[in-house]
Amino acid sequence: MSDEHDGPELPMERGALSAGVIAHLRGTGALPDPGDAQDADPYGDDLQLALYVCYELHYRGFAGVRPELEWDPPLLAVRAALEQRFLEALRRDAAPAGPLDDVLAELQVEPVHGSGVSWFLQERGELRHLRAYAVQRSLYHLKEADPHAWVLPRLSGRAKAGMAAIEYDEFGAGRADRVHARLFADLMSDLGLDTAYGRYLDEGCAAMLALVNLMSLFGLHRRLRGALVGHFAAVEITSSPASRRLARAMQRAGAGPAAEFFYTEHVEADAVHEQVVRREVVGGLLEQEPEMAADIAFGVTATAFVEERLGECLLADWQG
Ligand SMILES: [Fe+2]
Ligand SMILES: [Fe+2]
Repeated sequence: MSDEHDGPELPMERGALSAGVIAHLRGTGALPDPGDAQDADPYGDDLQLALYVCYELHYRGFAGVRPELEWDPPLLAVRAALEQRFLEALRRDAAPAGPLDDVLAELQVEPVHGSGVSWFLQERGELRHLRAYAVQRSLYHLKEADPHAWVLPRLSGRAKAGMAAIEYDEFGAGRADRVHARLFADLMSDLGLDTAYGRYLDEGCAAMLALVNLMSLFGLHRRLRGALVGHFAAVEITSSPASRRLARAMQRAGAGPAAEFFYTEHVEADAVHEQVVRREVVGGLLEQEPEMAADIAFGVTATAFVEERLGECLLADWQG
């Protein structure tokens, strides 16, 4: 068994790529050939899990895995090949249809009656749905805002100050009991779930892994800082209305006060974050580096693309 200090257990493999990466970390087998990534489904379980495991070494690592492997050159070569396959697919499948202003404006169009996951949960969510949703989201929310922190040294001026102001809130504004990752753990407790970091990695569907990988990919590469900012803007702009629906869902199902609070807190906070991210982070970055506009737009559309896949997979389970 692992304690928090050791990090979570390594997950079960989901194919040759993830099997090779996991075996390498355990010291029991060989890494895959980086060239093998080219034949893999870029959004599939195997590639996404292999990439997720590589990235996790930059967060908390895994029980029994030497911390030095975070910077292991052969592993980094495999990671680079997985990233390239994923990024090329996103550039192809989630290319922005128009300029940044149009892409951002589209995010704000809230349907009178939508059909996404938060709508389903608001109207028909039972505790089992809310649990299944929290299990998936725990892959991100138990490290909420961590992937976005990578971008701070890559920004300056207004973009940096705005980003840091939002991150300060995400990290609890000086209070450990208000760190958003902690608030999510409290939500999980209300739902009767295990709050241990990484506990539900084996349950994570490929689209959820892809969503977290997208953040890590954009955060860890300075050249993709525009895409990270676009991703972050998409999250903050769409969060407030979705959080309102999810708060209602938690309330309706009687999930508990902490479960409700996680989302009511985000209704308030993200309405403010939306303004800061638009004006200071996106506005500040564009003022300094106007050529970033296309990548900011790509960060928005790539996020929407992966979120949509996640929604489809959850709803297929619940409605099928
Ligand atoms: Fe948050
Ligand atoms: Fe936020």
